[in-house]
Amino acid sequence: MSDLNALEVISRKRDGGEHTSEEIDWLLGAYLLGDVPDYQMAAWLMAVCIRGMTRIETLTLTQAMVRSGEVLDLSAIEGIKVDKHSTGGVGDKVTLIAAPLAAACGVRVPKLSGRALAHTGGTLDKLESVPGLTVDLEPARFIKQVSEIGIAVAAQSPHMVPADKALYALRDVTATVPSIPLIASSVMSKKIAAGADAIVLDVKFGRGAFMPDVPSAEALSKEMVQLGEGAGRHTVALVTAMNNPLGRSIGNALEVLEALDALAGKGDEELIEVSLTVAREMCKLAEVDRDPADAMRSGAGRETFVRMLEAQGGNIDAGLPVAPVQIALAASSDGYVESIDALAVGLASLDLGAGRHKKEDRVDPAAGLVIQAPVGARVAAGDPLVVVHARSADLAEKVKPRLLQAWKLVAHEVQRPPHVLARVDKHGTT
Ligand code: URA
Repeated sequence: MSDLNALEVISRKRDGGEHTSEEIDWLLGAYLLGDVPDYQMAAWLMAVCIRGMTRIETLTLTQAMVRSGEVLDLSAIEGIKVDKHSTGGVGDKVTLIAAPLAAACGVRVPKLSGRALAHTGGTLDKLESVPGLTVDLEPARFIKQVSEIGIAVAAQSPHMVPADKALYALRDVTATVPSIPLIASSVMSKKIAAGADAIVLDVKFGRGAFMPDVPSAEALSKEMVQLGEGAGRHTVALVTAMNNPLGRSIGNALEVLEALDALAGKGDEELIEVSLTVAREMCKLAEVDRDPADAMRSGAGRETFVRMLEAQGGNIDAGLPVAPVQIALAASSDGYVESIDALAVGLASLDLGAGRHKKEDRVDPAAGLVIQAPVGARVAAGDPLVVVHARSADLAEKVKPRLLQAWKLVAHEVQRPPHVLARVDKHGTT
């Protein structure tokens, strides 16, 4: 029987003190048992938000979270298994491109995803827009698919890291999500429990991301890399831009179609650049000496993606869902596109039904947007900026004002900003 009590633990963090591992283990364990109520846990989370945690405290919390549930044993799969994770962004379909490219190069990619709330659907929603596809794979089927095809993308089991589910639900309603140690432990506990040997993290910053700027994304990256390494998983983080949406399409089926094109080397330069950079890091961690650009050129990456969709029951030949209403929104003046507000575009997609307001909401697989005038484009008044794909004309009308405001046009030429800003590994930042 521990003689610790919640008031003492909360007060220590409130006053800027450092917890012992025993205190962290006790607090999380008591919370999950219901012995520490939500209001005390919320007070502690707020103290962490304000005071922060040391790396050792964060590692202890992460490991306690991993131990709260099942850990996937991937030892039946030969070779170095590499996972990939993004902190999330608008139009972020990099997993659908980078992971099959890496798999086509010989990397084993066992990827589990959660069903997070997002402006647009998550990776699972995107995949589920393919008719017949399932993301609910039993461990044996998941492992077999990774061994045979090199890649599987499936839903995380509800028995994995239940501590994160409980803590995140509380953080979501107590304004305690934006804390580097809490985000880092949340993300990395799930990655560690998912069992891969190495992890590539795509940490986004900007208008459409959790982290507002490069320094904060870099700080989160360092924390997550150290947590991964502390748990014996080689971890690399890339800091990438999310001020403007990534690529041209936002929405579930639309993003799958864009990924199929990008896998064939066609489409948005930045999307291809970020995807190849992530895939190259996955190859390096797996000690695979191949260039994913070759898998793009040869079509092997696209073939691997299609094999994965089929292995999971997807029928791409049946065609992806198409929205009944498609309306182009036009520029009201001439100019060059300086920026497209990713947050505004994300919120418009959410209104169209491409993402979820509440966990229970169903996403509309066909809804979304296709950008016609990306950053750097020259447009004349009347040219299309974006095509809205909607369930109804009313919905398309509803998002119009927000979308038109998202495009900022200027009179001078615009260079597209760089997309991959930093790389963080256990040795530091480059
Ligand atoms: N994503 C997560 O999985 N957890 C967080 O805390 C924030 C983003």
